[in-house]
Amino acid sequence: MNENRIALVTGAAGGIGQAVCNALAEQGLQVVLADLDITAVQAVMATLPGHGHRAASVDISNITSVEQLFASLRDDGVRLSVLVNTAAISPVGEGGAVIDVKGTTPELWDKVFAVNAFGTYAICRAFVMQVDQDTQHGRIVNFASTGAQLGGYRSCTAYVASKAAVIAFTKALAREMAPMKITANVVSPGLIDTPMLRTRLAPEDDHKSVGLVPLARVGLPEEVAAAVTYLVGPLASYVTGSTVDVNGGYYMV
Ligand SMILES: NC(=O)c1ccc[n+]([C@@H]2O[C@H](COP(=O)([O-])OP(=O)(O)OC[C@H]3O[C@@H](n4cnc5c(N)ncnc54)[C@H](O)[C@@H]3O)[C@@H](O)[C@H]2O)c1
Repeated sequence: MNENRIALVTGAAGGIGQAVCNALAEQGLQVVLADLDITAVQAVMATLPGHGHRAASVDISNITSVEQLFASLRDDGVRLSVLVNTAAISPVGEGGAVIDVKGTTPELWDKVFAVNAFGTYAICRAFVMQVDQDTQHGRIVNFASTGAQLGGYRSCTAYVASKAAVIAFTKALAREMAPMKITANVVSPGLIDTPMLRTRLAPEDDHKSVGLVPLARVGLPEEVAAAVTYLVGPLASYVTGSTVDVNGGYYMV
């Protein structure tokens, strides 16, 4: 049943985004891989199983860029039924240091919110306006962070607050989308081995950070992608407005 389903994945060149694209392609979905860097997503696309995938460049913080992406998909007759929003930024200071609130300038705050919060809204809105009306399993998966649930340890306040906004936005969206039988959920990763984590935590220092993680290790992008695969699948049809934690037990509700 996945053969004709088309998924748009933002942040497709990132650590988790790549794993999500691969997992969805393995499930038989066609994937539109979108990221800032078209060359990087083209390289990811070349590794995917299946056929019919396409690469696109988008800046989710720029409404014109988002509108151009959806216009080109519409013009090419691409009927989306799944959206997975992994794109985000998490700025760090020198040597991977956390940027404290004094160092968080209004410009930095706005930039983080422009990508993580506004970008999530802009992509979701465009998706909702263009979703395949005949789709049987319309799905939206947005990305938060354990940092938003715990108050953060390694991330600046702007990132933590922007991810809390994603959780609240997605709950409200889930309620609105329910009459259309489209679900909207959040995946909230803990420490996952990707470029984003490695800007602030060297592998040799993992042991210092996993002390509060019951499973006592950093997670893999594939372990996050598995949660996405579940949420976009037909068996998750009664799951909406939820936050799925993939964090090794770092934060328990
Ligand atoms: N890795 C972790 O430990 C971790 C922990 C908690 C939450 N997360 C969340 O998981 C998601 C994926 O993170 P990741 O670790 O794969 O990060 P990553 O840095 O490896 O990938 C992020 C991707 O987003 C893209 N991107 C950034 N700004 C963009 C924009 N304006 N428009 C389009 N694309 C843009 C980047 O080019 C990059 O390819 C993010 O939402 C992140 O906040 C990650």
